Amino acid sequence: MQVGIDKMAFATTDEYVDLRELARTRGDEPDKYTIGIGQDQQAVVPPTQDIVTLGARAAAKLLTAEDKRHLSTIIVATESGIDNSKASAIYIKHLLGLDDFVRAVELKEACYSGTAGVQFAKGLVTMNPQSTVLVIAADIARYGLATPGEVTQGAGAVAMLISTNPRVLSLEDTSVSYTKDVMDFWRPLYATEAHVDGKYSTNVYIEFFLQCWQRYQQITGHQLADFAALTFHLPFTKMGKKALEGLLQADQSAVAETLRSQLTASQIYSRKVGNLYTGSLYLGLMSLLQNGTVNAGDRIGLFSYGSGAEGEFYTGIVQPQFKKYLNDVADDLGARQRVSVGQYEQEFNAQLGLNQADIAFDLSNDHETFVLAGQKNHQRI
Ligand code: CAA
Repeated sequence: MQVGIDKMAFATTDEYVDLRELARTRGDEPDKYTIGIGQDQQAVVPPTQDIVTLGARAAAKLLTAEDKRHLSTIIVATESGIDNSKASAIYIKHLLGLDDFVRAVELKEACYSGTAGVQFAKGLVTMNPQSTVLVIAADIARYGLATPGEVTQGAGAVAMLISTNPRVLSLEDTSVSYTKDVMDFWRPLYATEAHVDGKYSTNVYIEFFLQCWQRYQQITGHQLADFAALTFHLPFTKMGKKALEGLLQADQSAVAETLRSQLTASQIYSRKVGNLYTGSLYLGLMSLLQNGTVNAGDRIGLFSYGSGAEGEFYTGIVQPQFKKYLNDVADDLGARQRVSVGQYEQEFNAQLGLNQADIAFDLSNDHETFVLAGQKNHQRI
């Protein structure tokens, strides 16, 4: 029985800031941002958007009435939780009008938990092949204004329907997880911005990728030539390049060159949105499927990484009609509005954060289907 990703959809905010403009404002060389780090644009988050609204928007793009009838579970993976107790999945379940006989839960392990969601969903569908599971990876990556991490912020959500006879990617059985207690990036309960040891985190990421790959090779005997592409968690696009080059070690063979060019195709959307944390790997997969050289039957490798830290390498086989089951991401990104650095800073500071006071946001210019209207009596509206 084949189980895997049947449909995928992505949603981000409708605004972005240009990173060359941000670099100049911060007194940095623009090439550092666009070449050294590999980011061109970054999603700007208005206070009326959060992981619930972004997650609901992504899921609404793919769910039909028929899909809703088969859903057993909705899993939301995030590290930008809005409540220490109640799962964001319940808000999203409500916004999507899902049946009450649906299980709803939230998962956390930094940027990795989207992959945990996919693997758990695969297990649930395998146990009950008539059912499907909705996995949503939604995050807002915040490091703070004028911090080294600022250039690697971003926001958005990827929704995936996991089912039997999947039409995008059939998941293979072997996956390798690797976990160690590491302090490379964390966000204490009282903080709205992440703490990060940036350079250390990139080294841990590469080490985890190589550990997972070596173990995967030992188990399966697969070589690089067995892959049409490798995709990576992309906190910033240069990170994927560092990881791949850590493996290729200056290899100039045709196989290595193909993997390099496929990696570039997988990075096109991340360059324009920034880090999605849990969703980044899956936005990379969508970018590869829509911009790379991919054919039915190809094997794709996926490396997931979450600080703290956990890595996982697993694989899937591309299905014949895959392009029909992805939303048009390039179109959505092209429709966004560019805002100035000043406007971005204003919106960054207007996020709800840890503010406990009642607040009602101005919705007069907001045309989104799902909006965070404010907070009343400690409840988000
Ligand atoms: N032209 C071209 N390149 C330039 C340049 C210029 N004018 N100026 C600098 N560069 C290059 C540098 O040589 C460097 O390249 P290499 O990394 O290949 O050596 C690159 O630009 C970045 O320069 P710095 O190292 O000086 O940048 P920085 O000190 O400002 O920090 C960062 C960069 C560590 C990525 C920082 O943005 C950060 O901390 N980001 C958040 C942490 C992160 O994303 N870590 C990733 C792994 S953890 C993870 O994956 C989980 C997660 O999602 C967070």
